[in-house]
Amino acid sequence: MNGNGHVPVLIQEVLDYLDITRKGLYIDCTLGLGGHSLEILKRNPQASLIGFDIDEKSLLEAKKRMGLYSDRISLLHSDFRYLPDLRIDFQKVKGILLDLGLSSYQLDSPERGFSYSLEGPLDMRMDLRNKITAFKIIHKYSEYRLAQIFRDFGEIRPAKRLAREIVSRRKATRIETTTELRRIIEEIFRWRPQKGKIHPAAKVFQALRIEINQELKGLSEFLERITKKLPKKSRIAAISFHSLEDRIIKHTFLNLAAPEDYRPFLKILTKKPVIPSEDEIAFNFRSRSAKLRVAERI
Ligand SMILES: C[S@@+](CC[C@H](N)C(=O)[O-])C[C@H]1O[C@@H](n2cnc3c(N)ncnc32)[C@H](O)[C@@H]1O
Repeated sequence: MNGNGHVPVLIQEVLDYLDITRKGLYIDCTLGLGGHSLEILKRNPQASLIGFDIDEKSLLEAKKRMGLYSDRISLLHSDFRYLPDLRIDFQKVKGILLDLGLSSYQLDSPERGFSYSLEGPLDMRMDLRNKITAFKIIHKYSEYRLAQIFRDFGEIRPAKRLAREIVSRRKATRIETTTELRRIIEEIFRWRPQKGKIHPAAKVFQALRIEINQELKGLSEFLERITKKLPKKSRIAAISFHSLEDRIIKHTFLNLAAPEDYRPFLKILTKKPVIPSEDEIAFNFRSRSAKLRVAERI
């Protein structure tokens, strides 16, 4: 699997909202294959860029794709939540992008175990230095903890029953692969494919992935800390793919735009989240759940 044919989500909207014609530094917190970053560098010769990704394989792939602009980029194999602690000249920053979650590159690589429709190990780590895998969670977490994850990160209603069933099945057999887990979920939910109905494994896999990669942890604190470091007129754009993440972004932006002590740090530029057009969804079906929110430092 390589990144050829990669399609960045809401690309024109991101470029417009970040106002990428301005000279200065842009920070891509979730580089992926560099889809958005490449466009910024291509369209603005006076832009320099710092890119973060916790997935080293993605980062190496992005580095290859961005070779033409190597004199204007710094790529970091790191969690973007460390960004506020870095010693960089934040006064130069014009725009920050977060395009959260998984990339198609990760989802379509069976060996990473992110996809319930591709046979692979129960892994789901974005950062291979992480010690927790989906296999560990499925086999080692208590029934109580499993139920919590399914409820909080998958918004699955019979979360307790699902946890109970998984604990009872793991006593009898080792659940090793994505497709074994999918089949178990299908049995538990008595799944019959129906048009317009989401496969129950989608939510279970989402919940496991969020827990393994701690995707929601510290997101709000990160947005607060980075906002306070940014210069006036710089912009933050955040794309999310599920309601849990969108809620955090929305509320954090609102708190920074209208805090209780009346010292606002942000002006919200998107009253409602920007969503992909029908044309974009037809062209790139995975963009269908994307929501973009943008704010400007004041
Ligand atoms: C949706 S993809 C980004 C796609 C990218 N905008 C593009 O067009 O190529 C999200 C990327 O963010 C990375 N990522 C997720 N959480 C991260 C974190 N906390 N720190 C750094 N990178 C992260 C993932 O590994 C993945 O490669």
